[in-house]
Amino acid sequence: MPTTHQAVLIPGDGIGPAVSAAVLKILKAADAPVAFHQHHAGIAALADSGEVLPQSTIDAVREHHVALKGPCTTPVGKGFSSVNVQLRKKLDLYAAIRPVRSLPGVPTRYTDVDLVIFRENTEGLYSGIENEITDGVVTSLKIATRTACTRIAQRAFEYAKKRDRKKVTVFHKANILKLSDGLFLDCVEKVHDEQFPDIPYETQIIDAGCMKLVQDPTQFDLLLMENLYGDVISDLTAGLVGGLGVVPGSNIGETDAVFEAVHGSAPDIAGKGIANPLALLMSAVMMLNHLAESRKDDRCLTAANAIKNAYNKALEDNQKTGDLGGNLNTDQFANAVIQRLT
Ligand code: NAI
Repeated sequence: MPTTHQAVLIPGDGIGPAVSAAVLKILKAADAPVAFHQHHAGIAALADSGEVLPQSTIDAVREHHVALKGPCTTPVGKGFSSVNVQLRKKLDLYAAIRPVRSLPGVPTRYTDVDLVIFRENTEGLYSGIENEITDGVVTSLKIATRTACTRIAQRAFEYAKKRDRKKVTVFHKANILKLSDGLFLDCVEKVHDEQFPDIPYETQIIDAGCMKLVQDPTQFDLLLMENLYGDVISDLTAGLVGGLGVVPGSNIGETDAVFEAVHGSAPDIAGKGIANPLALLMSAVMMLNHLAESRKDDRCLTAANAIKNAYNKALEDNQKTGDLGGNLNTDQFANAVIQRLT
C-alpha cells in the first residue's frame, strides 16, 4: 500500500479555487493520506494552454485515476463546448452518483431526505450534436445506446444492493420519447429482472415525478435517469436539503473517478470569499471513501469519518455560510470544521 495516494486537483473557475483551497486545508488537518497534483481546466486553463481542457489534465487523471474537481464555467450560447461534458466523455465517467441528504442544523421543509441520484453521464441530449437545418430551424440529437443504458442500470442496482437502498425509481419521458427513453426503460428493466429481481423497482414519468419529489421526497430512494434529467433533478433535490452548497457528487468510470460538487462556478458570488465549501468537501469525503474501498486503505476511511463528523458538528453548532443562513465566510467555515476534527 502506498504511503500517500496521488490524486489530481482541478480547482476550476469562479468560486472553484476558493472552495478548493478550503477543502485542501481541511484534508490536511484531517491527515488524509492524499497528495494532490494540480492541473487546470475551464477558463483557468485557457491562459496557459489556449485550451479549456488541456491534454495534460486528461493524462494526469488517467495516470492517477482519481481527481477532485472544482466547477468550470461554460458560457451560454456560442463558444467552447462544456469542459465537464468533454471530461466525462473522454474519461468515460459514465455514472454520476449524487447523494442528497438532510443535514443537521440546516432547517428545510423536510428533515429526513435521503436520496441518491444516478445520472447517465455520457449521452442523451448532452451529445451536443446540434444542427441549424435552415435559418430559424435547429435540431438537437438525443442519443441512447443499449450499452450505456445497461451499464448505468447495472451500476445503480449494484449500488442499491450493496448499500441496502429500499427501491430504485427510473424517471423517464418514454410516453413522448418512445424510442430513446423507451430503450433506457427496456435496458433498466432487463437488468432488474435478470440480475436484481429482489430490489423493488418502479418507473415514473418525470413531470409527475417532480411534483411527487417536492410533495414528499421520502417516497423515493435511488433515482436513476438519463443525462439531462439527472442534471435538472440534481438541482431540484438540492433545493430540498439546503441548496447547491451542500450536494456532492462523483463521476465514475471503470478505471477513473472524478469527484465534484453538483454546483457550478457561481459567478454571482465569485471572488467574494463567501461560497460554501461544503459540497466540495463532501465530494472529497466521497473520494476518500472511494480510495478506502478501492485501495483497501482504512486511513482514508478514518479521515473521511472524521471530516464528516466535524462538518456535521459545525452545522449543529450553527457554524454556517451565508447560503445556509449563517454569517461565516468560506475560510471561517473551513476553520470551524478543522476545530471540530477529533
Ligand atoms: P451555479 O451552481 O454556479 O449557481 C447557482 C446559484 O447557486 C447561484 O446563485 C450561486 O451563487 C449559488 N451557489 C452555487 N454554489 C454555491 C456555493 N458553493 N455556495 C454558495 N452559493 C452557491 O449555477 P449557474 O449559475 O447556473 O452556472 C454558473 C456556471 O457554472 C455556468 O457556466 C455553468 O455552465 C457552470 N456549471 C459548472 C458545473 C461543473 O463544473 N460541474 C456544474 C453546473 C454549472
